[in-house]
Amino acid sequence: MRFETWSTSITTLGVDCLIVGVFEESELTAAARRIDQAAGGRLATLLGRGDFPGRAGETLLLTDLPGLAARRVLLTGLGARTAFQRRSWRKAVSAAVAALTRTGVKSAAFALERPDHEALDDYYYGRAVAELTVAGLYRVNDLKTGKKPKPAALARVLAEASSRTAAREVARGLAHGEALAQAAALQRDLGNLPGNICTPRYLAERARRLAREHRSLRVRVLDEPALRREKMGCLLAVAQGSSEPPRLIVLEYKGGKSGAAPVVLVGKGVTFDSGGISLKPAAEMDEMKYDMSGAAAVLAALSFAAEVKLPLHVVGIVGAVENMPDGKALKPGDIVTSSSGQTVEILNTDAEGRLVLCDALHYARRFKPAALIDMATLTGACVIALGHHHSAAIGNDEALVRELIEAGVRADDRAWPLPLTEEYAEQLKSNFADFANIGGRDGGAITAAAFLGKFTRGMRWAHLDIAGTAWQSGAHKGSTGRPTPLLADFLLRRAKV
Ligand code: BES
Ligand code: MN
Ligand code: ZN
Repeated sequence: MRFETWSTSITTLGVDCLIVGVFEESELTAAARRIDQAAGGRLATLLGRGDFPGRAGETLLLTDLPGLAARRVLLTGLGARTAFQRRSWRKAVSAAVAALTRTGVKSAAFALERPDHEALDDYYYGRAVAELTVAGLYRVNDLKTGKKPKPAALARVLAEASSRTAAREVARGLAHGEALAQAAALQRDLGNLPGNICTPRYLAERARRLAREHRSLRVRVLDEPALRREKMGCLLAVAQGSSEPPRLIVLEYKGGKSGAAPVVLVGKGVTFDSGGISLKPAAEMDEMKYDMSGAAAVLAALSFAAEVKLPLHVVGIVGAVENMPDGKALKPGDIVTSSSGQTVEILNTDAEGRLVLCDALHYARRFKPAALIDMATLTGACVIALGHHHSAAIGNDEALVRELIEAGVRADDRAWPLPLTEEYAEQLKSNFADFANIGGRDGGAITAAAFLGKFTRGMRWAHLDIAGTAWQSGAHKGSTGRPTPLLADFLLRRAKV
């Protein structure tokens, strides 16, 4: 995909299609008025007849209007002008891209009304155009054997820029948006792959491939004997019920000043979560193939850092295991020892994510992180608390949690804070070990974080529970690519670019 800016007159713009917004009030936006004048009032007539109501998400393709260099005009609904904001604008952009993928349009120029500069500046405007275009062209790795749909023709997208300085900002946004969406596509590909293909070894192989593709990435994979040498008793305990061997993947990107303390990202990579001996119910268990979404987001973030050459030191750590029931599997009541030396009584083998993460978080300590962030589809309780709109953000460093939440707002990939006060850790008390791996039903997303907090003392740490946001069910079942946009924004700010 080629992304460019445009600033010439809309009537002489030589592209296959102009994308123009229409409000529900049917009034013509500035761009639409210029097109209407050139086309002898054709748009005003169409809207006057009530043929395009302008609802957000609806589009109408017009061909061969007179007076235009462009052969087509795609109208896209912006909703009510009074309710016009970033969300309806994004919806209109996505609807336009979706409509274009069903046509032969090869080049298109966005001439949409934009939310005001405060809500969407030139940089974020360019970034969103590229992000939503690439995301709109995303297709799942298709394992169907029937006729393949033709790939979309769209190959060149132009975003409007009002001045020379604006063009520079828009272009910077376009470049970042494209890289961000490609990273999110990597996350989605990995998430959408079934558990019998995307195994811990597969994730390790994908990380190795990333390191081959980007010379700035270095990879290290710890296999089972190496994990035993690291004394990762919790991670190994989850893996012992599966015939798929576990892996710990370390992917390092060294931009920025040498010797600078890194941002360390840790991901839960449970490639399938059956629950283990505490077996999950059958309904929707297939969705537990997405239980490695945190791991996929870590690989995506590292590939983003390498792609845009961030001046920042970033380390990614992925704990990759499969959670299965078996004669050798971990049992409720078992007590295991983590690499930190702390003992854990297993009261539910389905609370396995925290067992994988605690050893990965402890491994992070050797990097002396400036910030430590883990991502995990950790609890069903998080979905009960926040639904599918916000990831949960929780940690021992208020400033870091705030930084993540603000990145999520800017990236339209939002997170919401949960409290982590000392009371929650008390719910993890065990009569037999240092603590248990569950703390009861109440506040389940927080007690899971409290468990992780026992392994991150003295480090600036935040945890994102992405159980409700990383994938969607239903007709559009699939990975969403979240929280890669949030993470990318966080890393860009940290790198001050
Ligand atoms: N991977 C699940 C969390 C999950 C559940 C994500 C549903 C998305 C949808 C996690 O490993 C898990 O099973 N958590 C348990 C914890 C409980 C046993 C304390 C849960 O949330 O039920
Ligand atoms: Mn589980
Ligand atoms: Zn899980």
